[in-house]
Amino acid sequence: MEKLVITGKTHLKGEVTISGAKNAAVAILPATLLIDGICTIDNLPNISDVKMSCKILEDLGAKITWNTPNEITIDTRHINKTVASEELTRKFRASYYMIGSMLGRKGAITVGMPGGCKLGARPIDQHIKGFEALGATVEVSQGKITATASELTGTSIYMDVVSVGATINVMLASVLAKGTTVIDNAAKEPHIVDVANFLNTMGADIRGAGTDVIKINGVEKLTGNSTYSIVPDQIEAGTFMLAAVASQGDILIKNCISKHLESLTAKIIEIGGQVEDYGDSIRVKMDKRPSKATIKTLPYPGFPTDLQPQMGVTLSIAEGTSRIIESIWESRFQYTEELNKMGAQITAQGKTAFFEGVSSLYGSPVYASDLRAGAALIIAGIIAEGKTEVYNLEHIDRGYENIEEKFRKLGAKIERVEE
Ligand code: EPZ
Repeated sequence: MEKLVITGKTHLKGEVTISGAKNAAVAILPATLLIDGICTIDNLPNISDVKMSCKILEDLGAKITWNTPNEITIDTRHINKTVASEELTRKFRASYYMIGSMLGRKGAITVGMPGGCKLGARPIDQHIKGFEALGATVEVSQGKITATASELTGTSIYMDVVSVGATINVMLASVLAKGTTVIDNAAKEPHIVDVANFLNTMGADIRGAGTDVIKINGVEKLTGNSTYSIVPDQIEAGTFMLAAVASQGDILIKNCISKHLESLTAKIIEIGGQVEDYGDSIRVKMDKRPSKATIKTLPYPGFPTDLQPQMGVTLSIAEGTSRIIESIWESRFQYTEELNKMGAQITAQGKTAFFEGVSSLYGSPVYASDLRAGAALIIAGIIAEGKTEVYNLEHIDRGYENIEEKFRKLGAKIERVEE
């Protein structure tokens, strides 16, 4: 078993370059199934969720060539199966995008029930509602989902909840459908815009992505033969912004889109940090303990749930008592128990947690319960006095490329060791 051994207390300083967005990549890879041709994807984060997506595609018959660690060429001309590997699809959440893509491509697919971070109930009723509205039949039984459609026909779909996954999945299924599909109450995250941009580059006709009404005019086929570069990962960028604040450091975050981080920037300024916005890079500086704050997670452009744990660490050492309301996921405060082992004073109950700020954290063995919890515990180790060991690295490796190397370049004393 691997663990990260971190010796604190470090003020992080220097520059970091952000990778491509995980949550765009894991949707764009299945979207290549709609092409029936060849395309190249660049700025692909080299993370385990991406490798798993590639394995599923290869199992379905795609041919993938790794041109560099961050660029692949995919040939989806010979897709010969309609049953995806159950073992692989169960391993992560975004495998549900195989359903929308394969409905569009072959009119049929069976996948294992998607896995992923354990953040409480993760229903997919809105995905199913969308597929059925387009004319598909969806059956969920014995841990598998089977979707079939002899024809998909565009229609209007109102999402009962704002869902990233359902918005992208219905968009994927609509690209080659007959007529026009309108998704109302759509999610607006940057990765939704990125998936739409990718599909449009390949010949789709999608309008309005990034607003809450997306219109997809079905086209006969996608053409491929293009290269697409994935958008920078706003959550990775936000993780380093908060690492700068929590460690009282000074970090220039390169290859990011500052517009995607406005809700975080506003909070960092509110708690006493300095933010210099250069558009495609951001410098964050902090020279004192943060002040207290109240945060509520919301769909984009609100404060992202995927930065909530990293903000939680930051507020654990703030002056005064802060409050975080998690309104997206039921169980996203599991990291607070680990922080309490390090001397934090956090009380979490249901969807609210109170952070009574302490002047310092102390090193301890801690366990990542999910991906962003893992990132938060790394930041905690960097700002804590003494030695912290972070376990369950498989969660962190799902979504952060070379994370310890990036932190080491900023001055962190962090090593990955085999236990
Ligand atoms: C995506 O998950 C991300 N994952 C998550 O990132 C992120 O936390 C989440 O969006 C919210 O931003 C990927 O993109 C692969 P949702 P997703 O559908 O699509 C409810 C990370 O750390 N809901 O937007 O699964 C649901 O219960 C992760 O990178 C329904 O009720 O999230 C939740 O309360 C973890 N029915 C809310 O909507 C549905 O059919 C938002 O979920 C679908 C969702």
